[in-house]
Amino acid sequence: MTKDLTQLEILRELQPVAEENLNRHLSIAKDWHPHDYVPWDEGRNFAAMGGVDWAPEQSALSEIARVAMITNLLTEDNLPSYHREIAHNFSQDGAWGTWVGRWTAEENRHGIVMRDYLVVTRGVDPVALEQARMIHMTNGVSAPPNWGGFLSNVAYVTFQELATRVSHRNTGRVCDDPVADRMLQRIAADENLHMIFYRNICGAALDLVPDQAMVSLNLVLTFFMMPGLGMPNFRRNGVLMAKHGIYDLRQHLDEVVLPVLKKWNIFERADFTEPGERARDALGAFVEKLEQDASRFEEQRDRMLAREAARGARQPA
Ligand SMILES: [Fe+2]
Ligand SMILES: [Fe+2]
Repeated sequence: MTKDLTQLEILRELQPVAEENLNRHLSIAKDWHPHDYVPWDEGRNFAAMGGVDWAPEQSALSEIARVAMITNLLTEDNLPSYHREIAHNFSQDGAWGTWVGRWTAEENRHGIVMRDYLVVTRGVDPVALEQARMIHMTNGVSAPPNWGGFLSNVAYVTFQELATRVSHRNTGRVCDDPVADRMLQRIAADENLHMIFYRNICGAALDLVPDQAMVSLNLVLTFFMMPGLGMPNFRRNGVLMAKHGIYDLRQHLDEVVLPVLKKWNIFERADFTEPGERARDALGAFVEKLEQDASRFEEQRDRMLAREAARGARQPA
């Protein structure tokens, strides 16, 4: 049996991979400016500066678009919590440290541009938004106590970046505003590049310490939670977003979990020993169950939407 590597040893071994992927990221990441994505000419003062305060009829967004925008923005707002987790688990030195800083700076743009857009277009109530941000950021988010360490952290962020990409992209679609769509596609493109960085690091970790990485991966995926947990109305909003195809179980499985597992060759690998094998079996059973749950969810949603459509058709125009 091989000896487990410590976190420090893993970071040292993967330093060249971090460097290579940092350079790759810097060479393809596009610089963009939040102000180029906000329709400033739609803006006007609020009451404190002699204008008019927000009222629901000023918003051009549907309820689902508002909920998805708020959920995605509050998720972005908790950047200090994610920074803390990443900075704590990655090294401050060399390519690791540069990545942590660069990634944090890129992520910060997402919250800036979405908030500017929502306030200028009066898409949501800015007072309620600020109250929700205060609650959400004060709560913060931390990794579950049984995760711990670099391996679970890097596995988690791989899936998390891809999940936010899906969520932003689909939110752009329901906003029914080309300006919002363009902004959210821009953010989604960033999330994709972030995902690739973490996916490559995690892939290299699987090659370096297959069993250790597999055990962490199984832990992370079976307890995967969107970081919105603790947000006001998170459960209700999550259900609404799933119902309207912003982020649901089917997308979680088909667009987030499975493509990454495939990229890492998880179910074909021959380099696991007993602990890795056991974790892979557990993950295999989990994925199968997720498949059944996703199909059941789709059937229920189809029935619910058909019922609502029939009710709508019976109502006089
Ligand atoms: Fe982001
Ligand atoms: Fe990201």
